[in-house]
Amino acid sequence: MKIATEIEQTRDIISFWKKEGFSVGLVPTMGYLHEGHKSLIERAVKENDKVVVSVFVNPMQFAPNEDFDSYPRDFDKDIALCENAGAKLVFHPEPDEMYNKNFTSYVDTAQVSEGLCGKSRPIHFRGVCTVVCKLFNIVQPDRAYFGEKDAQQLAVIKRMVDDLNMNIKIVGCPIIREEDGLAKSSRNIYLSAEERKAALILNKSLKLAKEKIYAGEKAAEKIKTLIVDMINNEPLAKIDYVEIVDWDKNLDEVKVIEGEILTAIAVYIGKTRLIDNFIVKC
Ligand code: PAF
Repeated sequence: MKIATEIEQTRDIISFWKKEGFSVGLVPTMGYLHEGHKSLIERAVKENDKVVVSVFVNPMQFAPNEDFDSYPRDFDKDIALCENAGAKLVFHPEPDEMYNKNFTSYVDTAQVSEGLCGKSRPIHFRGVCTVVCKLFNIVQPDRAYFGEKDAQQLAVIKRMVDDLNMNIKIVGCPIIREEDGLAKSSRNIYLSAEERKAALILNKSLKLAKEKIYAGEKAAEKIKTLIVDMINNEPLAKIDYVEIVDWDKNLDEVKVIEGEILTAIAVYIGKTRLIDNFIVKC
């Protein structure tokens, strides 16, 4: 497995592969990789001849009050995981390599990026779209892989690719959970032992909501209330949002649960903001 820190070096490796007729899959990440990322890389390895993993904590998607500086990093562990999962190249640029000092171009989506996490993190998706667009231009992958845990991110990137005619297949991959149900996330490392237990309320409340929907409940408000009440009973939890939206259009709020529906939540456990969700087709 190769490691490249420069854009030109990365392009040279990939253009050699392309000349040889190899297909290329990209897994964009911010590092501190876990089983969730591993499942994306393994899926990419199954579906492409060569897999590139980008490891870049993208400053542009963090607001000044967010955790850019303290975001966990462990590059040696990341490389071992990538190699183990079958990646052929890790692209690990410094911020200066990605954003030169005259940088002033941005990629943004409307509507789909405005609700849910977009409300509490207003500049986040502009930063995500810009860096993912740059990674797509650098790597020129045939396919790119994203986890459904960041469901809104997945929807935003699909929209960007459609709207801007990028010739890349976006593959969404299922949420990977710890044995007790907590969705895997690099930010789980921030949780104290007590908070780690309290964090289970995210999955527990979603699980119950899903059961009610499968049992025939159609009123979005009732499902939301059920989730809100359960989470509010957990003293260490503070809700950022609980939303039920359409999954196949603009992520607009729905009143009646029918068609493809995303139930998404963001909850602070202590100071750590965690997200989780489920998608159902009714
Ligand atoms: O999901 C992430 O880790 C990041 O938002 C991404 C897609 C790598 C862009 O920085």
